[in-house]
Amino acid sequence: MKTDFLVIGSGIAGLTYALKVANACPKKKVTIISKTSIDETNTKYAQGGVAGVMRFGEDSFSKHIEDTLAAGDGLCNPAIVEIVVNEGVDRIQEMIAWGARFDKDAFGEFKLGKEGGHSENRILHHKDITGKEIERALLEAVKQCSNIELITHCFVLDLITQHHCGYLVTKSTPDITCYGVYVLNLTNNKIEKIVSAITMLATGGIGQVYRTTTNPSIATGDGIAMVYRAKGRIENMEFVQFHPTALFENSSKGHSFLITEAVRGEGAVLRNKSGDAFMEKYDNRKDLAPRDIVARAIDSEMKINGTEFVYLDCTNISATDFKEHFPTILAKCESIGIHPSKDYIPVSPAAHYSCGGVKTDEWGRTSIRNLFASGECASTGLHGANRLASNSLLEAMVFAHRSFEESVKQIDTISIVDNVPDWNAEGTTAPDEMILITQSLKELKQVMSDYVGIFRNNHRLQRANKRLDLLHEETESLYDKTEVSPQLCELRNMITVAYLIVKSAEFRKESRGLHYNTDYNQQASILQNTIL
Ligand code: FAD
Ligand code: SIN
Repeated sequence: MKTDFLVIGSGIAGLTYALKVANACPKKKVTIISKTSIDETNTKYAQGGVAGVMRFGEDSFSKHIEDTLAAGDGLCNPAIVEIVVNEGVDRIQEMIAWGARFDKDAFGEFKLGKEGGHSENRILHHKDITGKEIERALLEAVKQCSNIELITHCFVLDLITQHHCGYLVTKSTPDITCYGVYVLNLTNNKIEKIVSAITMLATGGIGQVYRTTTNPSIATGDGIAMVYRAKGRIENMEFVQFHPTALFENSSKGHSFLITEAVRGEGAVLRNKSGDAFMEKYDNRKDLAPRDIVARAIDSEMKINGTEFVYLDCTNISATDFKEHFPTILAKCESIGIHPSKDYIPVSPAAHYSCGGVKTDEWGRTSIRNLFASGECASTGLHGANRLASNSLLEAMVFAHRSFEESVKQIDTISIVDNVPDWNAEGTTAPDEMILITQSLKELKQVMSDYVGIFRNNHRLQRANKRLDLLHEETESLYDKTEVSPQLCELRNMITVAYLIVKSAEFRKESRGLHYNTDYNQQASILQNTIL
């Protein structure tokens, strides 16, 4: 297949970019691919909302910039922070024009929520299902565009570069170029190639690398692993954000239900086993300190008290207000017998967001030619060592837009390279034991959760490294002789992502933001990104 713009991913980043290029270039073909159903994305699960300066006077761009820089703990790129905050408001207005509805009060003013690390109320939201509303609006707009083709259940295996055309490609090869992708079409189980002029990588997050995560099962870091295999630049992978308050359920199977930080924004308080509010011991912003601090505080309280969770006390939020703002959370809690207006909600931290990813510049360009990246798989420089709550959806909109602006400038100068070879599946046979993949995946999650979680040290990282080596060796050997399947490819991608997290964590000889290494309680004086 041939297409002008190939978009891998149907979350906020991919859909926003696709809509923009399709509208600006009506004669060009835009193809969006997703590996499962069209809306199964991290985007769909976003709860709290989108941060944006909507009420000048009380709030200002400089306050949002300061909050983002403070959360990022010295590693944000200030120029990028400025771009995102300043341009974000226009992008939010576009989202509204495409039909996304954000809650308003009786006077028609936006109801603006507050989350950790924000000095002002600036979070636009649609009850507690902001992401679902954005995904709905974007998909409806995309379906109106006759030059966009949506392909679901199509698993992208690898980026096609000079490497597949018989050239040796290393990290120092100049002008590594993306010609398209190889995909496993899950409707007919065939491996096909899609060649493209420009490819946008919008493959989302990596939460599934950990045992407990707020991310759905699609979040396996495929895009990051593909770029690493293609010898592109990846950075800051040590900064994995753990959300402080995922609902603690004994039966949760890998995907934990989130209790949005906006609930603390409305006044909910974290309490330990004895019912004591503990956040003031850790930070003077208490329950609304940035996420890295709150997650570490909860982890410490759980260790001190020997518990698997702490409590979120929402009893000071009126039942009417709770139902109005958080109907989905209310329904979930009630389904397991918890009534937030009188019961405390058991919560514990869960892997939530990757601050690092594919390194991009201010126009969303990666180190590979004709390949852009946007959304959670990209590392733009906005988040530094810790993302400020609700800045992710904003970042995705801003960089989808910037990538679109740059792409339309480039599109007519790029010729599609279509003489690339077919996928080589020689020597592979059907897998005889899928259970080996399941077991390796379980081990991987265990290693990452036990040794590369909220608190790290050099010894634990070393252990993780050794165990990952073995998993890598076994999985590569399986991959060499087995027909590809999404399960095998995701395992392989997650091992790569885990390796990148551990390597970056080993390089960072300090504690900073989300990377807390108990062997280095101090920050080093030289700030630098960990680029792999
Ligand atoms: P996604 O929305 O995750 O989309 C990824 C797409 O890539 C999917 O379509 C998937 O099928 C496709 N894909 C991946 N790999 C492949 C492959 N190999 N082949 C083909 N397709 C592939 N952020 C905020 O700013 N505010 C919030 O309130 C908020 N709440 C959140 C709550 C939860 C529970 C979670 C999990 C995250 C939340 N976040 C929030 C973070 C934010 O939702 C995500 O960072 C953002 O939605 C990511 O969007 P994306 O477009 O980059 O990727
Ligand atoms: C939340 O609603 O607490 C999540 C917000 C985010 O990840 O930015």
